[in-house]
Parts: sequence; structure tokens; C-alpha cells
Amino acid sequence: MDTLILEARDPGKDSAAIETAAELLRTGGLVILPTETVYGLGADATNPAAVEGIFRAKGRPQDNPLIVHVAKTEDIVPLVTEVPLRAQKLAEAFWPGPLTMILPRSERIPAVVSAGLETVALRFPSHPIARAVIERAGVPVAAPSANRSGSPSPTNAQHCISDMMGRVDAILDGGPCQVGLESTVVSLVGDKPRLLRPGAVTPAQLREVLGEIEVDSAVLHQLEEGARASSPGMKYRHYAPKAEVLLVHGGGAAYQEYANAHSGDGVWAMAFREDIPFLRLPALSYGGAANPEEQAEHLFSALRELDDKGAKQVLVHAPRPEGVGLAVYNRLLRAASFREYYPESGCF
Ligand code: TXA
Ligand code: MG
Repeated sequence: MDTLILEARDPGKDSAAIETAAELLRTGGLVILPTETVYGLGADATNPAAVEGIFRAKGRPQDNPLIVHVAKTEDIVPLVTEVPLRAQKLAEAFWPGPLTMILPRSERIPAVVSAGLETVALRFPSHPIARAVIERAGVPVAAPSANRSGSPSPTNAQHCISDMMGRVDAILDGGPCQVGLESTVVSLVGDKPRLLRPGAVTPAQLREVLGEIEVDSAVLHQLEEGARASSPGMKYRHYAPKAEVLLVHGGGAAYQEYANAHSGDGVWAMAFREDIPFLRLPALSYGGAANPEEQAEHLFSALRELDDKGAKQVLVHAPRPEGVGLAVYNRLLRAASFREYYPESGCF
């Protein structure tokens, strides 16, 4: 299929592009939209045939459910069987924004959206273009990240073009995404709220609103063979570049020494800005050591850039898993297939 590429930086000036995208969504098309987290591959969530197109375009496994995006909080009411008090509190605190809630699904959501689960993932994004398109479309929009399944999520239009040209009806170019990592996912269907995927809304922020939350073991640990994932997306090797990734822990000197001792053909360092002057192998920075927001913003671009450069092995300086850093670390663990090294103790 032909893919339209439309510039959409400003909801006022670019209203024609927004109207085109909204019309495509209303009529069952596939449209890539910018959001504040990553780009999403959208379709009308109430149209099962359109939603099936998302799975085909991405090459996404059928058992991995999608997030449904709305243009205002009250739009979730018909999509769920109840809105518990916790959901209202989370929406007040973090919507519009990079938070997804899992709630019991109503009949308005076709089974294909939720991969047959009795629940649905819901998000009200803050990006002005995403909001305008969803509002104009007048339907809830199912949208996973707009990458080919298994690749890092796209954080600018060029990433979407290289993964999805010819596979979708339109790509709205809204410039680079501000957060750079997918939304925080919280399940509200069990007794206790449970963090399924960390993101820009941190565990500490969630605890302030909800009191206690459980952190799903898949956030930091590899699922056992055959185990059931609470968030099916967690079980796939995700966010992964073609190169083999190793996460190297430790302070600047320990990391730099390890990386310098392991340079070789196709070996790259993906490090903090402070490391770069001390590295004697090809290297790129993904942000400052003490700035997890900046690391989040650049992480997926850096992984894609390493593929473009033909890196065969990447030695990543591991982030501190605190605040937004927990989300950065969670994505890097998956990119590395959980391969980690601690130079200070010599342990893998
Ligand atoms: O920031 C984001 O969340 C982006 C933008 C486009 O909004 N979307 C995104 O979608 O990251 P996706 O499909 O790449 O990730 C959705 C995650 C997957 O891990 C999926 O398994 C989980 O949410 N998920 C979706 N519905 C679920 C459900 N009903 N129960 C449990 N997990 C669910
Ligand atoms: Mg994804």
C-alpha cells in the first residue's frame, strides 16, 4: 500500500493532516501517530478488521494485547465494566500522560484488541497531535508502539518510515518524542495495584497516589520457561537491536576499564557522556550518568544507530535503576536478553 507522510507539529496549523489521519482511522485505516512516549500504530479499537491489520503490519504475535487510547478521561467509561476509585485517582494524577491502566473490559472492546483477555489497557496521551487525531476520529484508538515486532520502539518519524513504509496508510511526523520510552503500565484488576511495565511515571509517584503497589517480577527478571506473563509483551525479546548487547555495571572507571579491555571488530560502547573521553573503542552516549530522563529520551535512537553502524557487540554502561532509571534498565535488560556483567566482582 502507499503510505502518506504528513507533517503534524501543531494541531492548529496542521489541521488538514489531522483531519486526514482521523478520516483514515474512522474508515478502518492504519495511521502512525506521535505520542509523548513513542510513536504508536493506530487503528479504530472498535473495528476488529482494522485491529487485525495492526498485528499484520507489525508482525506482532496474536497473544500480545494492545493499548486503547482515548481523548479524555470519561471516554474510558463505556470501554470498561467499572471504573474503580484507584483508576479515578490515577487519572486525576497522571492523565493526560505516560500512564496505562489495565481494567476489566466491556463488550465495546473486541476480543482481538485484548488478545482474548477479559481486561483492557487504557491510556489518555498528552501529545497534542495524538489528542487532536483521537478526538477528531471520534473513536478509541488501539495503538502499540509503531516498530516492527522485536525492534526498538520508534521515537521519531524516520524510525517509523524505516520500519513501516508501505505497511500503513499514513505516518504523521510530529518530531521526536519527548519521553522516549513506552508508558508505565499498572494493572488495577487484582487485589493490589501491580506495576507491569515501568515508564516515566515512577513507582514512587504511583505509591504517592495508591499507597502500596506490587512490582511484577517480570519487570526485573526473566520469565521462567512456560510461565504465564501478566503482561504478555514482557515475554518477548523486545527493544532489541541486531547487535548482541551486554549490560556492564559499576562506576565510571570500572566500566571504562572493562570496555577498553574488550574492544575489537564491531564492538561498540554505549555509555554515559562522562565516559566518552576515557573510551578507546567506538562509542556513543545515551545521556548523562545522573540524568535518567535524558537516557530514556535517547535510548531507542542509540540502539537503532548502533545497528545502522553495523555494531556486532555493544557494551552498555548500565543505568542506576532508580526513578525513571528503572524503566531504562528494564528496556536494556530485554535488549541484552538479560546478559549482565559486574566488573567489580567479576560476575556475570
Ligand atoms: O507508551 C505506550 O504505551 C505506547 C504508545 C503508543 O502509547 N504503546 C505501547 O504499546 O508501548 P505496546 O503494544 O508496544 O505495549 C503494550 C504493553 C505490552 O507489554 C502488552 O502486553 C501490555 O501493554 N498490555 C496490553 N494490554 C494488556 C492487558 N489487557 N493486560 C496486560 N498487559 C497488557
Ligand atoms: Mg511495543
